Amino acid sequence: MGLFLLILAVTAELSLTVTTAGAVGVNWGTEASHPLPPSKVVELLKSNGIAKVKLFDADPKVLRALSGSNIGVTVGIPNYMIKSLNASRKVAESWVHDNVTRYFNGGNRVRIEYVAVGDEPFHQSYGNQYRPFVIGAAMNIQNALAKASLGSEVKVVVPSSFDSFLSESGRPSLGHFRADLNKTMIELLSFLTKHHSPFFVTISPFLSFHQNKNISLDFSLFKETAQAHKDRRKSYRNSYDLSYDTLASALASIGFSDVDIVVSKIGWPTDGAANATSPTAEVFLKGLMAHLEKKTGSLMRPPIETYIESLLDEDHRNISSGNFERHWGVLTFDGQAKYGFSFNHNSKKLVNAQNVQYLPPKWCVVNNNKDLSNVSARALEACAVADCTSILPGGTCSGIGWPGNVSYAFNSLYQQNDHSAESCDFGGLGLITTVDPSEDNCRFSVQLDTSHSSSQIPDFFQSWLLLLLFLLSVPSF
Ligand SMILES: *[C@@H]1O[C@H](CO)[C@@H](O)[C@H](O)[C@H]1NC(C)=O
Ligand SMILES: *[C@@H]1O[C@H](CO)[C@@H](O)[C@H](O)[C@H]1NC(C)=O
Ligand SMILES: *[C@@H]1O[C@H](CO)[C@@H](O)[C@H](O)[C@H]1NC(C)=O
Ligand SMILES: *[C@@H]1O[C@H](CO)[C@@H](O)[C@H](O)[C@H]1NC(C)=O
Ligand SMILES: *[C@@H]1O[C@H](CO)[C@@H](O)[C@H](O)[C@H]1NC(C)=O
Ligand SMILES: *[C@@H]1O[C@H](CO)[C@@H](O)[C@H](O)[C@H]1NC(C)=O
Ligand SMILES: *[C@@H]1O[C@H](CO)[C@@H](O)[C@H](O)[C@H]1NC(C)=O
Ligand SMILES: *[C@@H]1O[C@H](CO)[C@@H](O)[C@H](O)[C@H]1NC(C)=O
Repeated sequence: MGLFLLILAVTAELSLTVTTAGAVGVNWGTEASHPLPPSKVVELLKSNGIAKVKLFDADPKVLRALSGSNIGVTVGIPNYMIKSLNASRKVAESWVHDNVTRYFNGGNRVRIEYVAVGDEPFHQSYGNQYRPFVIGAAMNIQNALAKASLGSEVKVVVPSSFDSFLSESGRPSLGHFRADLNKTMIELLSFLTKHHSPFFVTISPFLSFHQNKNISLDFSLFKETAQAHKDRRKSYRNSYDLSYDTLASALASIGFSDVDIVVSKIGWPTDGAANATSPTAEVFLKGLMAHLEKKTGSLMRPPIETYIESLLDEDHRNISSGNFERHWGVLTFDGQAKYGFSFNHNSKKLVNAQNVQYLPPKWCVVNNNKDLSNVSARALEACAVADCTSILPGGTCSGIGWPGNVSYAFNSLYQQNDHSAESCDFGGLGLITTVDPSEDNCRFSVQLDTSHSSSQIPDFFQSWLLLLLFLLSVPSF
């Protein structure tokens, strides 16, 4: 009977109520060696009252897990597809057919609200690799949606990076778009306003602090005591308002002061850079939530939606812009809260992922009984593949010294390779142990067991299958 009630409860939960004041969602990226199973992530979204989620692609396993949930979804088109989507309407039509229309048919719909063309395709590090094709791709996707009669339900957006706008003087009133983007931005904004779509943009007090000596930590963290930045008659008390108004001026300078703004990425990482720590991230996010609720400050126009970067840590993210890139999660890779924070007024804590399946409690460390004179070369080999961001300068494990840091590298590779014995060999210098080598804040993780989590049967069917089995097992029912 217990199981039956449980199934009913799970089914009832599908009609989620939206309680968040203003719309605050999260980015859900999957660039991890062992991603948390989609069904567990959707449980996390529901149990934490998160009503909106932004994806970076359109993985069918993820979308199936979201079906029937009533969570508002942004599906993403990866940058590498932009060029072909500009070149061909047919390609755009089949993308929309496969990755949007399909989820609008039948009972268990996915509430897709936006299609994001590219992930920050105008980022300066990409040069002109994507820029010339973005608007054409967006137009083709828009036409394909219209053809599928979804033109009014699903909006096409282009997430713009934090480096797309600036103000050399640091004064928001002089904000403008990057000179090489001026023309593209005019085209983009004309497209967006024509279709009543919002402007998606990253705001990053963390990057401002990290890159700009003139921005203090207190100013970044919404501290009342921070020294204000003055601009004409306005006085800015925090880095968020300063950046946001710089953007608003940039939009006004090309004649689009009325477009709706969505902050599509904002967060604070917890590792891989100075002041990227859990306590700092906690202060930042609590400050941000309080600030968004007040709807005051010096904001010219508040954002209509805000997406926290990010839900989970991802150990395969590109770290060319910094080691912190793999540590944006408000939850660890395995769905456990890093600090006291909540999306929801009624609670102070995030709800963790439940019943997570881990590999057995085993780690790979250096064998101290061997001659370790050449072990550092082995560590470098491991780090070329594994995630060593925590042992590098600014990382939470940067203080553990040698050969603890070598053990960290060995373990990271061993975990990424699902505990295969060969991956802990290192020319005989590795040793498998059941004693947790973690110390203080430096966590030697055990990876997730993903061998049977990517179930072929959707969860929805699993529930009914369980019910069927249950009914069959109770003859009197
Ligand atoms: C985008 O596609 C159109 C239509 O195929 C093509 O004419 C145009 O040259 C493409 N844009 C660029 C920058 O290649
Ligand atoms: C649908 O999206 C997935 C994942 O982003 C992609 O691999 C696939 O090619 C897309 N389908 C089409 C027809 O473009
Ligand atoms: C640096 O910050 C101070 C306020 O702390 C401000 O008065 C000054 O104009 C800023 N300078 C630049 C170049 O941003
Ligand atoms: C950008 O375009 C606007 C509007 O056409 C123009 O006034 C401004 O001077 C341009 N800025 C740059 C840097 O080209
Ligand atoms: C920020 O980082 C610097 C450099 O590591 C450190 O000296 C300072 O104490 C940190 N501040 C906070 C509040 O964590
Ligand atoms: C990481 O990003 C940089 C800059 O965009 C790029 O040059 C590099 O190829 C990327 N690395 C990987 C492994 O994708
Ligand atoms: C360390 O490397 C050097 C140079 O390759 C080699 O001569 C030496 O035998 C190695 N020592 C051990 C203990 O493997
Ligand atoms: C480990 O720490 C030692 C001493 O601090 C350092 O020389 C070495 O480069 C570190 N190794 C790695 C893989 O970070």
